[in-house]
Amino acid sequence: MALSTGSKKIKTAVFITGTGSNLKSLIKFSKLKKSPISIKIIISNNPKAKGLRFGKIYKIKKKIFNFKKKTTAEKEILFELKKNKINLICLAGFMKILSKNFIHNFNGKIMNIHPSLLPKYKGLKTHERAIKNKDKYSGCSVHFVNSKLDSGKIILKKKVRINKKDTPQTLAKKILVQEHKLYPKAILKIFNL
Ligand code: GAR
Repeated sequence: MALSTGSKKIKTAVFITGTGSNLKSLIKFSKLKKSPISIKIIISNNPKAKGLRFGKIYKIKKKIFNFKKKTTAEKEILFELKKNKINLICLAGFMKILSKNFIHNFNGKIMNIHPSLLPKYKGLKTHERAIKNKDKYSGCSVHFVNSKLDSGKIILKKKVRINKKDTPQTLAKKILVQEHKLYPKAILKIFNL
């Protein structure tokens, strides 16, 4: 099924593992009139994820699933998503790899934000690797999720300059500021808005 807004907002799930600053920016965006999405549920693999507090603050349902039993967790998540009529998944700092079967169930309807200029630096420790390689720029990318890690079709990217004094931490901070702008922009783009 293709993504389409029609007159109603697209029921969206956001998946997080940690701080949830991208979740917060997506929630704020979803409340704007121009936003095509409405966030119905927050899903996490981590009961201690700081970002879960945004569920309470913004009165959005949240659910935690134990990925030690990944097959079961994914089955339960799919059930929850169907129950809530979810039609778009935004991965926002979700640090688990979803199975082919799960992705197949939401084919073309899962987006992710990644802290590098893809296809450079798929996977982890992106900032460290960019600095080590003496790159002049790094940045962030929003892409569709397919069954290969960080390899789906790229929707938008934003470059960020790396300064000589940057550490992985300072670079992460600078890139995060851009991530918060890029994810909403990418959502508008996929809906042709
Ligand atoms: C973000 O920088 C996001 O791009 C990254 O984790 C951070 C989460 O921050 N995601 C990945 O590395 C995915 N492989 P947040 O919890 O504050 O949104």
